[in-house]
Amino acid sequence: MNYVYILRCSDGTLYCGWTSDLEKRVSVHNAGTGAKYTRSRRPVELLYYEEYEDRHEALSREWHIKRMRREEKLKLINGGKKMEFKELIKERRSVRAYASAPTHEELVQILTEAQQAPSWKNSQTTRWYVAESPEKHEELRQALHPANQNKVANAAMIVSTYVRNVAGFTREEPDNEVGNGWGAYDLGLHDAYLLLAARDAGYDTLIMGLRDGRKIREIFGIPENEEVLSVIAVGKRAEEPAFRPRKELAEIARFY
Ligand SMILES: Cc1cc2nc3c(=O)[nH]c(=O)nc-3n(C[C@H](O)[C@H](O)[C@H](O)COP(=O)(O)O)c2cc1C
Repeated sequence: MNYVYILRCSDGTLYCGWTSDLEKRVSVHNAGTGAKYTRSRRPVELLYYEEYEDRHEALSREWHIKRMRREEKLKLINGGKKMEFKELIKERRSVRAYASAPTHEELVQILTEAQQAPSWKNSQTTRWYVAESPEKHEELRQALHPANQNKVANAAMIVSTYVRNVAGFTREEPDNEVGNGWGAYDLGLHDAYLLLAARDAGYDTLIMGLRDGRKIREIFGIPENEEVLSVIAVGKRAEEPAFRPRKELAEIARFY
């Protein structure tokens, strides 16, 4: 039997190949002798394969898959279906170069899904200011830290704020020592949902904490009782983002 397969490499990139012994081929890739590309990107994980009786058919299919864009390969891997949750969270990466922005309808859909995030007593104190027009986009871009200004071309941008003294408060008095930390907590949840909803719709994101909050307040006329937090770029990726390794779980989680 002949197999055309797709691997996910340790840096998150996809690799397509052909073989007559799938199991052996994957272990050869993981031993570092499978291909130059995979040698420096180990371990690899088998995501998908197709079977062919005919070797030529398999080779031709490999040729076609190799030329597919990443999004198309992912669609194939998921049988044309939407990505599974585990795939979705692996695919979510900060992207710093964009090809195009979501449509207005897509942005509405993404934000509507993000609204499902939990919040303190369902107080929903997150507010979003969406820069869609070229004019607002440029104004907002100027309010970003210089290091961020060249990362957001072609993307839509969303400013996140939260209304102070509501989440974690009863009659203007804090319920505990965290105070407005709860407002920021809820905003983080809303934005985490936003990132995943965007990814589910085929879009990537970049959270930017390096920005001028005062300028942003002016641009959108944001009231003083709201705290301006992040700016999030949303768009189709124009680069393959690098995988940023995570700490060992034991460093951040203790089980008792
Ligand atoms: C609160 C917050 C602020 C961030 N600010 C910036 C920023 O100003 N510029 C930037 O390029 N990335 C920024 N990032 C992105 C992080 O660098 C990125 O999430 C991290 O390196 C992990 O990479 P990943 O998102 O691709 O997994 C920010 C992320 C968070 C959560």
